Amino acid sequence: MRSLVAGNWKMNGAGEADLAKFGALKTALAETPPSCDVLVCPPATMIAQAAWFTKGVFAIGGQDCHAQPSGAFTGDISAEMLKAAGASHVIVGHSERRQYHGEKDADVAAKAQAAWRAGLIAIICIGETLEEREGGSANSICHSQVLGSIPDGATAANSVLAYEPVWAIGTGKTPSVDDIAAMHAHLRGCLKERCGEEGGKMLILYGGSVKPDNAAAILSLPDVGGALVGGASLKVADFMGIISAAPA
Ligand code: PGA
Repeated sequence: MRSLVAGNWKMNGAGEADLAKFGALKTALAETPPSCDVLVCPPATMIAQAAWFTKGVFAIGGQDCHAQPSGAFTGDISAEMLKAAGASHVIVGHSERRQYHGEKDADVAAKAQAAWRAGLIAIICIGETLEEREGGSANSICHSQVLGSIPDGATAANSVLAYEPVWAIGTGKTPSVDDIAAMHAHLRGCLKERCGEEGGKMLILYGGSVKPDNAAAILSLPDVGGALVGGASLKVADFMGIISAAPA
């Protein structure tokens, strides 16, 4: 399975200058064909335009979805709407959703099921806080998040797990490569426990302060199947630097 480098623009991006980034990334990928799959998750307002413009070159995804297909949920966006706009993936359970919107593992699992219902690949996010890491409970927290956030029926084709230590997101701090390797090995075991044989094949992305200068070391670790990139995905040159670091 090819690795995946996914950009999460979060609540950034509007207007011509940001739309131009899709053209610049398209050109850069044509010049330097990637050895990984590439995905960008812009704000929902940009998905339709982005998906139309980048079709066949790289994939476009959403950053969240509602669990229901439609209904009286003002301000929410369903997985079906993302699909209709041209998305192929959706991030669910990002730590910022868990933190600022109170999303629990069961909510995340319902959103992952909604993603599959709509024909999207769910990128299911988990990760421990600094307090949990320092208290020695990172492994058990991530284990319970895997069990609680991944619904029955998850396969390597319909789901990707993203491990993002909360304390590494947007901080410029990352775990050591040894710690990342140890956590990904642990998560592989958790995925097999949760999903059986499919859990052995599912991609596990690392996320949290991935930059061009640390990408090669992280992406070459066993059981690291790619990266989920926040800040560095907003600059095409930086994002390309990460994409180019993906091993063949
Ligand atoms: P960061 O964000 O790369 O800016 O640390 C990662 C994420 O939140 O997905």
